[in-house]
Amino acid sequence: KANKRLAQVMPSLLRHLHDFARENEITVDEWMAAVNMVNEAGRMSDEKRNEGQLLQDILGMETLVDEITYTLANEAQDQPTATAILGPFWRHGAPKRNLGDSIIDADQGGDKTHMHGTVTDFTTNKPIANAEIDVWHTAPNGLYEQQDPSQPDMNLRGRFYTDSQGRYDFICLRPTSYPIPNDGPAGKLLGLLDRHPMRPAHIHFIISADGYKPVVTQIFDRKDKHISDDTVFAVKDSLVVDFKPLEGDPRANFELPYDFKLASF
Ligand code: DHB
Ligand code: FE
Repeated sequence: KANKRLAQVMPSLLRHLHDFARENEITVDEWMAAVNMVNEAGRMSDEKRNEGQLLQDILGMETLVDEITYTLANEAQDQPTATAILGPFWRHGAPKRNLGDSIIDADQGGDKTHMHGTVTDFTTNKPIANAEIDVWHTAPNGLYEQQDPSQPDMNLRGRFYTDSQGRYDFICLRPTSYPIPNDGPAGKLLGLLDRHPMRPAHIHFIISADGYKPVVTQIFDRKDKHISDDTVFAVKDSLVVDFKPLEGDPRANFELPYDFKLASF
């Protein structure tokens, strides 16, 4: 049966697409190059490789709709923690770990970081107990574990649950900037546009709790040289953080305090 929302937006999509082709006198060969690129992205995608996501991300689409969605959801309110794109590397079922644990399952170098903070209700400032913090980031070689056979399964991923006072903490790495995979159509398109493939160092999160809207987000290292030119345009000011040197903790040489704020349904 017909879909109402689709019926509403489709005429606009077709108008813009057709105008684009007319305005730029797109030829059959040029359009088929685009069709082939989409087919190639599909062929190389599986549960470990999400080339379609990469392609639309380098075109700024996920960041744009994230911005629209966040604005719609928070129109009448102050702001809970800002959202940022999911990206292609989240995995279902990251291991549940205890507060204070490390998500580093292999010795691969890099600066260790003690990240800690709270999850609160942003309107009441009350702590949220048992909020889930699903976290993932890359190894120092710039690869997520599913891209890299040398890393243990689910390395640098974990799910943590806040205590009765909304607190969480864990050990992770201070991440490094790295290129998005550029051996597929997304990388090829970046090359043809003379664009670099770098993302600034970042850590991904999905924060969720009963009765609250989940927040998909990332935080970014202020010191990273690509902080102002993320190839997928995901950086927002409120998500830029400072890693602080830490002394006297055998587990970590940096500290990262960060508080998350959720909005109730
Ligand atoms: C993209 C996002 C990421 O977080 C990442 O690590 C690589 C690529 C993306 O949006 O395509
Ligand atoms: Fe990422």
